[in-house]
Amino acid sequence: MCGIFAYTGSKNKDAVEVLLEGLSSLEYRGYDSAGIYTPESGVVKTPGAVGALRGKVPKSFTGKSGISHLRWATHGAPTEKNAHPHHGGKEDIWLVHNGIVENFRELKERLTKKGHTFFSESDTEVLAHLIEEYLRSEKNFEKAVFKALGEVRGTYGLAIQYAKEPEKLIAARMGSPIVLGVGNGEHFIASDASPILKHTKKVLFLNDGEVAVLTPTSHAVYKLSQKRVRRNPEELSWGAEEAQKGGYEHFMLKEIMEAPDVVSNTLRGRLIQKKGMAKLGGLESVAKKLSHIERIIIVGCGTAYYAGLIGEYMLEEFAGIPVEVELASEFRYRSPVLNQRTALIAVSQSGETIDTLEAVREGKRKGALTLGIVNTVGSTIARETDAGVYNHAGPEVGVASTKALVSQLTTLALFTLFFGRARKLSPKKGAEIARELAALPKKLETVLKKEKEMAKLAKKYAHMRDFLFIGRKYNYPVALEGALKLKEVSYVHAEGYGAGEMKHGPIAMIDQEFPTFALTPRDSVYEKNVSNVHELKARKGLVIALATEGDKSIAKLADDVVYVPKTLEMLQPILNLIPLQLFAYYVAIQKGLNPDRPRNLAKSVTVE
Ligand code: G6P
Repeated sequence: MCGIFAYTGSKNKDAVEVLLEGLSSLEYRGYDSAGIYTPESGVVKTPGAVGALRGKVPKSFTGKSGISHLRWATHGAPTEKNAHPHHGGKEDIWLVHNGIVENFRELKERLTKKGHTFFSESDTEVLAHLIEEYLRSEKNFEKAVFKALGEVRGTYGLAIQYAKEPEKLIAARMGSPIVLGVGNGEHFIASDASPILKHTKKVLFLNDGEVAVLTPTSHAVYKLSQKRVRRNPEELSWGAEEAQKGGYEHFMLKEIMEAPDVVSNTLRGRLIQKKGMAKLGGLESVAKKLSHIERIIIVGCGTAYYAGLIGEYMLEEFAGIPVEVELASEFRYRSPVLNQRTALIAVSQSGETIDTLEAVREGKRKGALTLGIVNTVGSTIARETDAGVYNHAGPEVGVASTKALVSQLTTLALFTLFFGRARKLSPKKGAEIARELAALPKKLETVLKKEKEMAKLAKKYAHMRDFLFIGRKYNYPVALEGALKLKEVSYVHAEGYGAGEMKHGPIAMIDQEFPTFALTPRDSVYEKNVSNVHELKARKGLVIALATEGDKSIAKLADDVVYVPKTLEMLQPILNLIPLQLFAYYVAIQKGLNPDRPRNLAKSVTVE
């Protein structure tokens, strides 16, 4: 997501060059605007790339310390005004921030009453004003920061500077990573180690609820309670590229492992758990039209299309609205019958896929209400749809979509609560769905512990040339996605099928050389799926079953079993996906392939 880099040094190093170079190594994260501040020269910000920022920084711009940022827009458009660093009213408190201040509206209101004037739409700016406000009473920079942070709800990774104490930097972390670099007479703050490694390998990772005070020659870490934390820096053996990947070998694996955070970020501020409702600010502007909707069409491509297929089951079962899902590339060439009572939901990670975009345009032409479930803020689909909800999954670098799907499904579950509670869904069932959604991150952590197990399984099966994936109901699209992932990154021929269709063709291919991944969770179609496994075994087919924890009977039948914790049937795909993604990843590794760069595929397909 956004990138932070800050520096304080006493040597004759030019902080401006250090910061600009550091920002370049954070560019891989994806961003839409950039900015830099030094107490000596002030601020330069710009929409666009680090190159544009460099071009805008005058020769006279200097500093021995400073803070800098790459922004990936969440609140407010990617403009110069909304770019970081942000400052308080007196322009002496400056900060850069990753994360979301959830209570920024109420803080802003309070501070406005006290005479603060705000310059941007960003939630971050309120933090600078809050610190400034406490500085008035506390007369101490550190104390003012502690007091202000005590009031913040939400997430932050922060680097803060006070113009009157230019050598000092304060860093803080709550839910958004911060790494400190410990150099010789210099210190660094960054959102990941990649911009630091060129200068020093000695780093200190902040934990949630920790604050660090840095000068060129000292660093001290505290808890939010101001209690000192004693922890020695560690020596990183990573190269810059590994640092970008958070120490993982590939972005794909890093992004699979991010699933618990992705769900938390997608849900943040949107779940009204007790009432079993979802608050989707992005749909407020079309609330009236939504109440008249009689039919939903979901369009997408690739993995996003499969998200739509799962969404169809959710929305029809719990919101009672007829839903159709269509490949965007087909929808645009049909003559779809649409009207004002139709909502067309476009699902797209990039927000730039040409077929999905054209499907949106076709929907608009025919008078449908167009909505987006998009991950990339400010992308074309986000701009062209009437309204929408951002996934907040953070930039996805791996070509084959992984974490974006997790966030798309979480968003579709929120849509289900949103539409459902306005229609047939009872408060009790709504609350149950909300509760299970909130419990997903923990369950995902359990599933991710299967990483080694999936690596072993991949090793056992990597020599197979063909694979069948089967599932039923909510897990039918999961089977399609499991096959797609394997094809995309490991080039193994794989077919995804609805389990009920197995007898209508694919079973003819089954023998000892054609294994099946069978999705058999303990759900409403369990018995039927078990029958399919029997049928496969009767043909000497090898079966890997993905089953619910504690299901011993399936182990007697299948050759291998991967256990996944139980959740509601409608949310089970979010957990079941993960082992399939890990399996595809590790088969690719077994074959010596780079899963981040699959041959012939592009991350964002912007040509037809
Ligand atoms: C490409 C990517 C897929 C992705 C699809 C749709 O094919 O390789 O991973 O699912 O495009 O992309 P979108 O950005 O619209 O979600």
